[in-house]
Amino acid sequence: MAKSRRYKPKSKRQALESVRTLIPWERIQRRVAEMAQEIRRDFPLEPLHLVGVLKGSIFFLTDLAREISGDVSLDFIAVSSYGSGTHTSGQVKLTRDLDSSIEGRTVIVVEDILDTGMTLQYLLRVFEQRKPRRIRVAVLLDKPERRIAKVRADYVGFTIPNEFVVGYGLDYAERYRNLADVGVLTLGAKVKKS
Ligand code: IMP
Ligand code: MG
Repeated sequence: MAKSRRYKPKSKRQALESVRTLIPWERIQRRVAEMAQEIRRDFPLEPLHLVGVLKGSIFFLTDLAREISGDVSLDFIAVSSYGSGTHTSGQVKLTRDLDSSIEGRTVIVVEDILDTGMTLQYLLRVFEQRKPRRIRVAVLLDKPERRIAKVRADYVGFTIPNEFVVGYGLDYAERYRNLADVGVLTLGAKVKKS
């Protein structure tokens, strides 16, 4: 029997995808506000320059920025890691650079998720050459089991198991970024018990 759907999937393949909520929006909001306070507590007097890694960090960055008191500025950088599926090749390329110099500034790199760490490792190398006053890293999600590169975040929203997640900015092939919650994406048909 056909089930009702909230939207009509474009292809048969999409029809087999499903998302199970992992971290509800309310919980994300509470944690992001806490992270903002942790960051400001560590640097009470400094102007903070938030650098968002496009596009996954957009909702996290805007929510975080609104919760940090005092002097805050924003910039964005974009990278691609070759591949649009649930696995990346690990090769990172800069596709959009910052608008302004970070020399002498206190930079907070804002990322959606720390997975293998290859993206962050690449970005930190690029940024360190530009002589910021200091660099800190804030990630919404951390999947430590998947780490290849030797990098760590200074501020972590949630540590999650090794599952592919979408929502709150995170995508699968550019879809699902607009979901309010973070959820685990399942591809393919689920085995139904009759
Ligand atoms: P890295 O493996 O740490 O370099 O992660 C690179 C990028 O892959 C992240 O910034 C995300 O954009 C993407 N990514 C990694 N894991 C996930 C996931 O579970 N869902 C959606 N995107 C992910
Ligand atoms: Mg990302």
